[in-house]
Amino acid sequence: MRISVIGAGYVGLVTGACLAELGHVVHCTDNDSAKIAVLESGKLPIYEPGLDEIVAKNRRSGRLSFSADPATAVAQGDVIFICVGTPPLPNGDADLSSIDRVAQMIAAEAKSDKLVVEKSTVPAQTGQQLKRVLEIYGRGRGIRFHVASNPEFLREGTAVGDFLHPDRIVVGVDDETAEKQLREIYRPLLDQNFACPLHNGSCPHSNQPTWLVTTINSAELIKHASNSFLAIKISYANMVSDLAEMLGADIEQVMHGVGLDPRIGPHFFKPGLGFGGFCLPKDLQAFVRLAERHGVDFSMLREAERINHQRIESFVEKLRHSLWVLKGKKIGLLGLAFKANTDDIRFAPSIELIKRLHNEGVRVSAFDPQASEKISGQFPDLNCTADAYESANGADALLIVTEWPEFRDLDWKRIHQIMARPLVLDGRNLLSAEEMRALGFEYQSVGRPRVAQAMPTTSA
Ligand code: UDX
Repeated sequence: MRISVIGAGYVGLVTGACLAELGHVVHCTDNDSAKIAVLESGKLPIYEPGLDEIVAKNRRSGRLSFSADPATAVAQGDVIFICVGTPPLPNGDADLSSIDRVAQMIAAEAKSDKLVVEKSTVPAQTGQQLKRVLEIYGRGRGIRFHVASNPEFLREGTAVGDFLHPDRIVVGVDDETAEKQLREIYRPLLDQNFACPLHNGSCPHSNQPTWLVTTINSAELIKHASNSFLAIKISYANMVSDLAEMLGADIEQVMHGVGLDPRIGPHFFKPGLGFGGFCLPKDLQAFVRLAERHGVDFSMLREAERINHQRIESFVEKLRHSLWVLKGKKIGLLGLAFKANTDDIRFAPSIELIKRLHNEGVRVSAFDPQASEKISGQFPDLNCTADAYESANGADALLIVTEWPEFRDLDWKRIHQIMARPLVLDGRNLLSAEEMRALGFEYQSVGRPRVAQAMPTTSA
């Protein structure tokens, strides 16, 4: 089918490239012409594993094209996916101005009937507003606009795999035409008859996605309710982790035990510096505001948010407890991205942490395999180093902020020698307490006994 994608960010670019990979003809546009210029030069404005190959391959085949001209995008697509950002306003409401602007542009530029699909994460009932805008600004031209909600469940760092091997495809529609067109678009995924580009043919994924058709309001609510529940799981693990640390229990083992209950499940129980990224924090806020505007008490989610914000506070206090005086100290940060395998720093715990440390008069050096360039925009005077060792050199403490697997494989003996004080605070429980202590580090982590405890020997 002929598809247009409006918004070439983390969601739009993955959506456009993967839809082209499924055999559709896709035109992707963005109002940031610099981003389009980067794409047309054959590069990517973001880091997302596996995306560059898929974009390059489908550009070569002519199935994927880019332009900064929205009129072209609207004309090219029978189906238009809206993938623009919906960042939080100061009061936590989702900023839907980009959705409104794009809807007016589609209404003005459309020369034929269109299916307009909300892929951006939006509060429930946005689809109704989208429909009204299209009708009002497109009236009198004999063009029919169908509207659908098709929320994305992509995780940064695994977004290509998440798109091509979804557990579920959720579509919110209020007419047959829209459902038929969306089923046609996703048919290769539903029939699983496409050669997965990620695994050279021998794809380990065999899950048959669930095709869930519901109303537009319900589809929009599924997205917010899903992400908010993930946030609750993380905050629950962090809350229990604080108690585990007081009691000398090991949170990793506790949450492993809890997660063995199939009704609960093992995922999203990793304690640490809390959730960041451009999804969970903002979706949680928008969901709470949506409920409050409708007089529904969502204080449970407010609590999840409070626990999450408190993670940085308690991490800094843990550091102060070890260093006594923070002012004037040299501290190395390993990791800046909001999680591993992405360069995205939006709502990353590192941002609040750096602000707090700078306010305390701490000299901060930081290394991240992908995100250093992006963070320099926010902290121009932050010393971003070329590798982890430079950040560790002469440091009074080294903080693990993002769980990049490569940090496990660093030469920790060398780091022990070059630090001013061999103090490591592991905010993501990435490293082994036993190994670090055996190397002579003062090692602290989250929710685990501060002093090594012998595991009970199983009786012979
Ligand atoms: C999330 C949802 O997972 C995805 O389904 C949705 O489409 C978009 O938002 P994403 O924000 O890319 O995806 O990352 P995710 O892997 O969910 O992690 C979000 C944050 O939670 C990260 O900061 C991560 O460090 C943190 N996290 C995750 C934890 O602290 N503990 C965990 O156990 C899992």
